[in-house]
Order: sequence, then C-alpha cells, then structure tokens
Amino acid sequence: MPLSPSYLDEIVARNPIEDVVSQYVTLTRRSSNLFGLCPFHSEKTPSFSVAPEKGIYYCFGCHKGGGVINFIMEIENLTFREAVAFLAKRAGMDPPEEGRADAAGRERERLLALCKAAARYYHAQLKLPQAQAARDYIAKRGLTGATVTKFGLGYAPDGWTGLIDEMTALGFSKEELLKAGLALKHQTKGTVYDRFRNRLMFPIIDVRGSVIAFGGRVLDDSTPKYLNSSETMIFNKRKNLFALNYAKKSKEDYIILAEGYMDVVTLHQYGFDCAVASLGTALTEDHVTLLSKYTQKIVLTYDADEAGQNATRRALPMLEKAGISVRVLRVQGAKDPDEFLKKYGPDAFRSLLDKSENQAEYFLGALLRKYDLTADDQKVAFAKEATQVIASLPNAVERDVYSRRAAEAAGISADAMMAEIDRARKRLSRTRQKAQERTDTAVAMMHQPKERGLRYDDLRAAMAEEGLLRQLVREPELFGRVDLKEAEFSAPILGRAYTAFRLQYEEGRPVGVSSLGEAFTSAELAHLSGVLQKSGDLVNDRALDDYIRIIRESAKKRENTGQSVEDRLRAAADRANRKT
Ligand code: CTP
Ligand code: MN
Repeated sequence: MPLSPSYLDEIVARNPIEDVVSQYVTLTRRSSNLFGLCPFHSEKTPSFSVAPEKGIYYCFGCHKGGGVINFIMEIENLTFREAVAFLAKRAGMDPPEEGRADAAGRERERLLALCKAAARYYHAQLKLPQAQAARDYIAKRGLTGATVTKFGLGYAPDGWTGLIDEMTALGFSKEELLKAGLALKHQTKGTVYDRFRNRLMFPIIDVRGSVIAFGGRVLDDSTPKYLNSSETMIFNKRKNLFALNYAKKSKEDYIILAEGYMDVVTLHQYGFDCAVASLGTALTEDHVTLLSKYTQKIVLTYDADEAGQNATRRALPMLEKAGISVRVLRVQGAKDPDEFLKKYGPDAFRSLLDKSENQAEYFLGALLRKYDLTADDQKVAFAKEATQVIASLPNAVERDVYSRRAAEAAGISADAMMAEIDRARKRLSRTRQKAQERTDTAVAMMHQPKERGLRYDDLRAAMAEEGLLRQLVREPELFGRVDLKEAEFSAPILGRAYTAFRLQYEEGRPVGVSSLGEAFTSAELAHLSGVLQKSGDLVNDRALDDYIRIIRESAKKRENTGQSVEDRLRAAADRANRKT
C-alpha cells in the first residue's frame, strides 16, 4: 500500500533538504541555491546544487537529483520505504506503519540481522575447545585479545552445518542463509552447507556499522587463502572498504589504504586507526567516491611485490582525479605492512609514513629502480619515460624541481630535459584541445535528457514544457490560468509531472518533486530536478502564454500526422530498450 500523501508531505516538510544534505556535504550559498562538492561523483569544483525553496538537489555534473527522500535513498543506499523511515526517525516522527514496509526492505533487514547473528556465532566459537587451532593461529599472527574483540574476529568450525544449524534454530531459513552468501547449495544433491569452514573469520562492516559480509582465512597454507561472501543484496565489494567504519572516526585527517585484511587489522593494533582495505578487488571508482567523503588525503601502502606496485600505479591517477592528494608509502624489508610492523614496529612504520612520496617522486623513484643509469641506452630510455611523467604535472615549480632531479640522475643537462618536457607538454595540450572539441559537441546535446528512455522527440516543444513546469512550481497559482491536458505534452515524462503537480495544487499540497513518491523512478526524479534547476527563464505572463502556444502548436502538428500518445510511448520504450 502506498504511503499517504499527507504523511509524505510531513516527512518532506520536517526534513528541510538543506539541513539533511548539510549532514553529508558542506554547502555554501550562491544566490538562491546552495552549492557543494557532489557526494555521488568525484569532483574538485562544486557542481552539486540544493534549492531549498524548491526542496530539491541536482548535480550539474553527474545529473543525479531529486527531493530529500531520493537524496537519502541515494546516499544511504536505502529503498524508498527505508529512506522514509530514516527521515521519520530524524524528524522524531512516527515511523511509516511497519506492515507497510516493502518486501525488498524487509528482506534486507532480515539479511542484516542474519549476518549480525552469524558474526556473534563465529566470535563465540573462538572460545570453544574445538577452536584451539584458530586461537593458536591468532597468537602466531600476533593479534591481541583487544584486536580480536575490536574487529569481532571469529572462527568458522570445521563441520558442514554448524552455522546453518545455529541460524535456523534462531528462526532464519536456509533460503536466507543462501541469500546472505553464508551457505551454498550442493549442485546435484541440493543439500545446503556452510560456505565458511575451518577459517578465521573477518566480519565486513559497512559505514553504518552493520555486518554485511565476511572474509575467511585458512589457518594454514592451503588455498584459497581467503574466501569472501558472495555478492548479495546487502554486500557489493566494489562499494565497501574493510574497516572504514573505524577509519571514518579516526582523528587523523588522512586514510591509509592497504591491500589486505591482515594489514589493516595489524595497522589498527599498532595505533594506525585510519587504515582501510578494498576487499580482494582492485580499487573502483565507487571506492574512490566513498573515500572522498571522508578524507582529502590518502596514503597508499600496497604490497611490495609487482602486483602491489601495479595496483599503486593504477590507483594513483584515480585518486588524484577525485582531488585527493595521494602519497605512496613503500614498504621496505618486508612484503606488506603487516609483516613490516611485526618485524620493525610502529616507530619504523611511522618514519616510512613521514617519508612517503607524492606521485611524481613515486614514479620517478620507480623509473630509477627500473633502469641501470650507467648504460647510455638505458639513460635515454629513462629520460624519455621521465619526460612523460614530469610533463603531466600541472605545477610549473614541480616540473622544474623534478626535471632537474631527473636530469641529474640521468647525467644529462637540465636544459635538454626541460626542452623535451616542453615538447611533451605541447603534444599533451593538443590532445586536450581535441577533448575540448568533443565536449563542445556534447554541450549541443545538453538539452536532451541524460536517460535515453526519456529522450525528447520535439525539442522546441519540450523546452516550452520544461519552462512551463518551472513557472508552475515557482508559482502554483498559475495553474488557474493553464488548461493544458497531459496528452498535449510532447514529452510523456513532462506530461506526467504536469498532472502530478496539478493534483498537488488542487489538493492544496506543496507543489514540487520532493513528495512525488514512488510513481516516478529515480532517473525520472533526477531528470525533473534538472529541469527545475535550469535557469534563464523569463518570468512574466508573456513567457507563460508563449509556452502554452508552443505546446499547443506541437500537439496540433502531432494530431495532424496522426501520431497518438500510445505511439509516442511505444517509441520512447523502444529507444530505452535499444540502449545504444
Ligand atoms: N584476497 C582474496 N582472496 C585470495 C587472496 C587474497 O580475497 N585468495 C584478498 C584478501 O582481501 C586479502 C588481500 O586480497 O586480504 C591481499 O592478499 P594477500 O596479500 O595475499 O593477503 P594478506 O593480507 O597478506 O594475507 P596474510 O597476511 O594473511 O597472508
Ligand atoms: Mn600479509
């Protein structure tokens, strides 16, 4: 059953969008809008806008947008109902009626409860006699009791149904165990058995503190060394970082990004409480976005081996592009931070941290190690590669410093090096110019909706429809002067919005997208927010009449060519399906 419009209106009214968004984004006022760095994509200059009086947010960069409910859905990764419940709680209102929570939301809640119960179970197992090997292993890895407690480490016993028996006794079904990624089904026999057996268990906890998955390590040298929960409704490894729930509370203004569970656990044990790791996967754009919500400084400390260094080279530009300043801590004399800390202690690690290198130093250092600079041909190859690295630095002083350093290392003159770098920069700027030309073409496409399924057939009419909606939302009394029918709109999405706004007006409710509810998809709400955030309209009666005239003309033309609403809807659906 849908939530009542009056309940939704109250949710929206009692959660002013600027207050809610401010808890996630630092906003500064620019005329009637507030602007900040978009929490949904990485950027250095603010293109994320909030319009308090319209009750919407819209990002001019990534085109996400909507009302306050939509914002919470996106940022907290919640369903519509969950977001409403979240905002109800925030405003001290009664929750939406329990029986009405949607099926998906209820299922998520169940799976989260199951993962929590499973974490308790694994942790409790550690104390039993059968867990002696696990306790020995923990001791061998030098983990303290406090660390085991802090991370809720546990032990998955060696049977096939230990977890299943315990969880079903608590009222969870085998189906739910499968859905939570904690159990597997035998392909032929169809029996269900525990995924994790005889492993040291690392609960994976999201930023809200819920257990969403597990990593399990063998206690010996067998393979696979680590096993992770499968991707589930509540666990997406591309979007979560191990220990971020702790690191986000650290007093440090930077975050240490390591490769493994054990690295992070050990780093925390030695006082580096700002360490996180991606979960057995390369760093993703989603990880970068997530990190940029909590810090502007990252120290990368991947393993010393080839794979770790490749991962470093890949991660550096991704993080820099998001405006994060990155330094690289090279672990020396050990294969990873865990081993290093146990061998040399936290003070030695602290000094590596102090010596960590910026991107240019790191790349030049890697080149210096790669080439034998006593041989002439290697000197030339080194100079060529170094030129590329230095040419891409945006800062002239930095270019000067590093070109001198590279020239000296290669035993060539600084002038020759500088001349090469200038040439490389000219080439770079030509490439950039081409990229700019591509952007210009893209701007011509700007007025088309970003979502293919929403494409406008008649751009002129659609612009008038957009302008009309903007005026109506700004001044709902104008509805009294507008007698258009939804079918007269050339763009179905704008026609539906017109009808929905009109209904809000007629029922005496606030007019806008924030309380539109579930009748519109988030892509549609984002598009409508974009429409409402476009500026440059003439605000006068003439404009309103012009809009109506243009819309009517276009409708007449369609009527004459015999194209029905159904035809247009079908055409739009076709376009969405084609999805080129
Ligand atoms: N990993 C994984 N599956 C594997 C091996 C590794 O998911 N079969 C992931 C784990 O998240 C692991 C990380 O990759 O923590 C780094 O792997 P590795 O360097 O081998 O692990 P360490 O953390 O060094 O593990 P340990 O010290 O326990 O040997
Ligand atoms: Mn290790």
